[in-house]
Amino acid sequence: MVSPEAVPFAKTGGLADVAGALPKELAKLGHRVCLVIPGYDTIDWATQGFKEWRRLTVPTALGPIEAVIEQATLANSGVQVLAVRYDPFFARPGLYQEAGRSYPDNLERFAFFSRAVPELIVALKQERGWVPDLLHAHDWQTALGIVYLRTLYSGQKPCQGIATIFTIHNMGYQGRFPAADYWKTGLSPELFTPKRLEFYGQLNVLKGGLVFADYLTTVSPTYAREIQTAALGFGLEGVIQERQARMIGIVNGIDVDQWNPATDPYVPARYSATDLAGKMICKDGLQREMGLPVRDVPLIGIVSRLTEQKGLDLVADVLPDLMKMDVQVTLLGTGDPSLEARFRTLRTRTSKKIGLRIGFDEGLAHRIEAGSDLFLMPSRYEPCGLSQLYSLRYGTVPVVRRTGGLADTVTPYSSDAVKQGQATGFLFDEPTKAALLTTVLQALRVYGQKDEWTALILAGMGTDVSWAKSARAYVDLYRRVVGMKP
Ligand code: ADP
Ligand code: GLC
Repeated sequence: MVSPEAVPFAKTGGLADVAGALPKELAKLGHRVCLVIPGYDTIDWATQGFKEWRRLTVPTALGPIEAVIEQATLANSGVQVLAVRYDPFFARPGLYQEAGRSYPDNLERFAFFSRAVPELIVALKQERGWVPDLLHAHDWQTALGIVYLRTLYSGQKPCQGIATIFTIHNMGYQGRFPAADYWKTGLSPELFTPKRLEFYGQLNVLKGGLVFADYLTTVSPTYAREIQTAALGFGLEGVIQERQARMIGIVNGIDVDQWNPATDPYVPARYSATDLAGKMICKDGLQREMGLPVRDVPLIGIVSRLTEQKGLDLVADVLPDLMKMDVQVTLLGTGDPSLEARFRTLRTRTSKKIGLRIGFDEGLAHRIEAGSDLFLMPSRYEPCGLSQLYSLRYGTVPVVRRTGGLADTVTPYSSDAVKQGQATGFLFDEPTKAALLTTVLQALRVYGQKDEWTALILAGMGTDVSWAKSARAYVDLYRRVVGMKP
């Protein structure tokens, strides 16, 4: 399993949660998993139990680079973690960017990291006699790993027999670079064609993964359909259409040990579906922490990257209307500087109703999931989304746009659906201020009807959001793909 981020080592978004949790589930099902990540500065080498395994010379277009391979185990699992450490590339304050600007050498950084993958496969065979059946790579930063395996290493044992799966977590991030930088991949110029790595005159690294992998997956069935359309394919819909017979959508699960209201160390009181009393204490605590009056009022939570994708501009649009009502909003997020500024201004105007924290704070994310009544995710698109799954588990009713994984994981409110114990949240269709506002108002009305509201909470908390089912779906797919090996 190769990922550019993984909990608890490095995280900017949901991919880290997936890469930290899925390997553990696979191990529980009896599989031997080795997780490979870049050796970032966010890793606390000693505390997280890393020890140097060996040096590894990685041939790159820039010349040979000597990496240090650090080794550890994922807590409570037999999953081996290998971190590819080369400080000039990865000992930086950010993973991919700083102050909103991508690192100018991201191609060099992730081409190097990806090239280390087949080299590690060779080293694992030589030193440990271990050869994986399958390589599972995530997002553009690792796509070249599959391309290298199928090109530069295609004739080399043990690489040639390894099946490959590439998972798309977000088509909005493709790793596009000028054609003039193509040489940095170290790949033959013959591969720079529209059928392979070229995209309208540019290098498109994600496309390499889409074209070369034996099988593609994405993180929800709805998103698997959406990326075949011009609206959400980000220009690669044609490539996806061509490969759709070898693509499947599997929804993410969540790590139910880390996200468990009954044991969560980050929240002030524990609770469960059979005893919700602690949730009130969490709400009081959250109001206090965010500088809001501690009182009985619907509290709407948001935890999000502040980007166009997440539709947070719609939230900024509706806030002035919402603030005329008796509600509180609490937001934790970081990203687009202009959105950050908008929320800061709104907060200054209505500090008694808006609690704002600009930044990345794992503990506060847990406290918002636990202490809020409603959780807002008005995403323009959402491949899967994990925050709404955390909300379900924490008895916080999600209000989401009907797109991607949000559509697949939240069951919409209706009186009938509540009576049948099915409804878990509220959905709206149009990405507009009006649609969002109407749906929040509907949710607030239902909030006032305590029986219905409690039924929504309990249905959410009773939903199986664990990895169990999805991990099995991956294993089924792995078996199928290993069986159809080249
Ligand atoms: P995405 O990966 O597109 O950002 P997801 O919903 O899949 O969306 O995952 C987001 C993850 O990142 C969740 O675990 C969420 O709690 C976390 N997260 C997002 N923003 C922050 C933040 N500012 N502080 C702490 N955690 C955050
Ligand atoms: C991406 C998507 C998000 C998904 C996450 C993990 O960051 O934006 O929807 O949940 O990957 O798959």
